This record gives sequence, structure tokens and C-alpha cells, in this order.
Amino acid sequence: MLSKKLINKKLGQGAFAMARQVKELKKTTDNSKIINSTIGTFFDNNENLLIFDTVEKIYKELPPVDIFGYASGVSGSAEYKEAVKKDILSNHLDLFTKTKTYIDVTATAGGTGAIHNTFKGYAEEGDTILLPNFMWEAYVNLSQANNLNYQTYNLFDNNSFDLKDFSEKILTLIKKQKKVIIVINDPCQNPTGYSLSFEEWEAVIEILKKASSYGEVILLNDIAYIDYDFRGKELSRKHFSLFANLPKNIFVILAYSMSKSFTCYGLRSGAQIAISSSQEIMEEFSYSSEFLCRTSWSNISKGGMAILSEIFNNDNYLNEIDANRIEWVKLLKERAKVFLENAEKENLNHCPFKGGFFITIPISEHKEKILKYLIEKNIFVLPLKNGIRVAICSVPTEKLKKLPKEIKKAIDNFQI
Ligand SMILES: Cc1ncc(COP(=O)(O)O)c(C=O)c1O
Repeated sequence: MLSKKLINKKLGQGAFAMARQVKELKKTTDNSKIINSTIGTFFDNNENLLIFDTVEKIYKELPPVDIFGYASGVSGSAEYKEAVKKDILSNHLDLFTKTKTYIDVTATAGGTGAIHNTFKGYAEEGDTILLPNFMWEAYVNLSQANNLNYQTYNLFDNNSFDLKDFSEKILTLIKKQKKVIIVINDPCQNPTGYSLSFEEWEAVIEILKKASSYGEVILLNDIAYIDYDFRGKELSRKHFSLFANLPKNIFVILAYSMSKSFTCYGLRSGAQIAISSSQEIMEEFSYSSEFLCRTSWSNISKGGMAILSEIFNNDNYLNEIDANRIEWVKLLKERAKVFLENAEKENLNHCPFKGGFFITIPISEHKEKILKYLIEKNIFVLPLKNGIRVAICSVPTEKLKKLPKEIKKAIDNFQI
């Protein structure tokens, strides 16, 4: 019965399935004995979801029509598009104008919608796209949903971004395919917490320029965790200046999300922010992304868009949220410190970490056994293809203290 294109396309035992398992366990076991490091949402040390008071207040005070009515445009309201631009590109707007670099915004159902639209809009069926070797598993599902194949580029060379492998993979693929979509989830990559330095971004751009002499390059920079960058707001956005005045056949799309940045996970509000030196490419983007929205979810939550528009129309709101987030980033820093110090004590290896919600322990062998062993001790960490992800965003500081020791014990248990 099912369409051939969907046969055997199943979601794996991802974060949501494990979270259900934890919920069951909580019925019979005291929560203090459970470590739930499965979901990528931010909890306080009492394991309650963190929500910005300001965001909640704005939402509750919206006129009903702004919540229940249809949004004004399929690709998003004009106010929302302006707010997204201000949030992400305000420091670079002059540079973009001066260099005749065009920007356009399409509202999407979360950052997920932005990724989906980009894959659907810019890859041909059967194409291969490039993803990082440590990644958010939904990228694979999203590529499968669009009948795409994927290859991975190696993220790390020791403690830095592996520019050599990145360059080789892109050049090989573009020479064959004449077009390539590359996903870079930065800053605060999910699942490793790595952020490229500005110099690494400069080198990435040089590689993309080289690749663009062989064909069309589409860079999808997923910025879902941008506001939890330990370097602060300005530095988290610094590399966007490098997207000005690029060759016309390099097209940049930023996948923007209100989920983490404004604790609006359930409001499903995000955007594609398109950047190009070509007016023609931007015109294509405008009509095609609107078409894709209309034919997948139509328009997005009016309330979600109204929240962001309000925040960027009122400096007080923005200042309150920024000040609040600075405190939350302090909490993340504290949790990271506790975990990493204990990891070092235990000699537990981890991927390079710079900031954000997650830390990854690379594991090449016996992963299933290690996970089973941990689950028997009521410890739930997210399995990746090549490691396990620790969500410092959702585990209280006290519980994170003992986690490295337990993980190390589990790994050592299966070393021969
Ligand atoms: C790396 C990454 N990108 C994008 C998203 C998209 O989030 P949303 O669709 O909720 O905006 C997530 C959510 O977990 C993520 O981890």
C-alpha cells in the first residue's frame, strides 16, 4: 500500500524514543537515581524546562487574533522577516548593502523546515549531499525524505576542523556532480559542541570558492544553537561577514530556529535566511521557497512570528532576554566545566568542545553493549553512529559530576 519511496524509511531509536523509555522508568524509580541525557532542550537543575519569562509574557499578552488567525503571508510576515534579519545579520547589513549582497528570509516550520526546504529546493533526486561525520541524525532522515544520498566529511583533525578532508570531499563531489549541498552546523555543533574559529571559517570560504569553479555550491549553515555560543553574541555572528560578495554560484542559506534561542520549541518557528550576490538566484529562492512552504505546511505559527516581531520592536524585551540568556550560558559553562574536569580525571576521551548544549564521547567499538550497560544503571545517553552524546543542557550539574566515571566504567568494561 505504502508509496515505494517511503518503504523502510523509519526513524531510528532517536532521542524521542529514549525519552519515552525514561518516562516509563520514572513511574517505578526515583528520579534522583536516573540520568536522562537524551533530549536537546534546556532544563534547570531541578529538571524543569527553561522558558524565558519575557517570551511567555509576550505570548500571553498577544491579541487572540495574533495567535489564532492565519499568518499574513505564506513565506512569513514582513515584520518577522525583518526581526530575523536584525537578530542574525544586524552587524553586517551595511557591508551586505555596500557589496550588493542580497538577503531574503522565508519563514519555515522550525529550523527543520529550513533544512527540508533547502534539500528539496536545491538538490536533484539521487544527488549526494555532504554532512559532518558527527551530526544531528535528522539530517539523514531529511535527506532520505528527499531521495538524496549523503557522504560525510570528517569534522576533526586533532582538536581543529579537518579542512583537508572537507576540501577533498567537496572537490571530489563537485567535479562529479557539478553541484553540491554542504551542511555545516555551527556554532555549537550538535552533537559535539564544536565551533569553528573565524580563521577556520575563512579557510572554509576559500575552499568553497575553489569548488565553485567546478560547479554550484550551496552552503547550508545550520545555526540552531547560535545563542548559546560561549564566545558571546557578537563573535557567534562574526563569520557571516564572510558571506558578503561571494561568487554568484555560491549560495548560502542559514537555517534559523526560535526553538532554542527563544525557548519556543513547540511553536515551530524558524526561517531560511538566503544570502547571494545574484539577484536572479534570490528571485528563484523567493518564489520557490514560498511554493515549498505552501505545499508542505502552508504558513507557520502566527503567534511564533508575533513573538519575534515584538522582541525586535522593543529594546527592553530584547535586553531582558539577552540578560537572562547570559545567566543560562553561565549555567551551561558550569556544567561543561564539571563534566570536562571529571572526564579528564577519568581519562575519558571526548570530541573538541567549545560551547553549547552537548558534548560527545567518540566510541568506535561495542557501542550497543556500552549503552545497554549504562541503561541498566538508569543512565540514558543518546547513541550516535560513532559515539554517544551527553546533553549538558538537560542534566543537572550534580548528576553531570558522576557521569564521566560511569561512562568510562562502561567503556572499559568492554575493552578486551
Ligand atoms: C542541529 C539542529 N538543527 C536544527 C534543529 C531544528 O530545530 P527546530 O526544528 O525545532 O527549529 C535542531 C533541533 O534539535 C538541531 O539540533
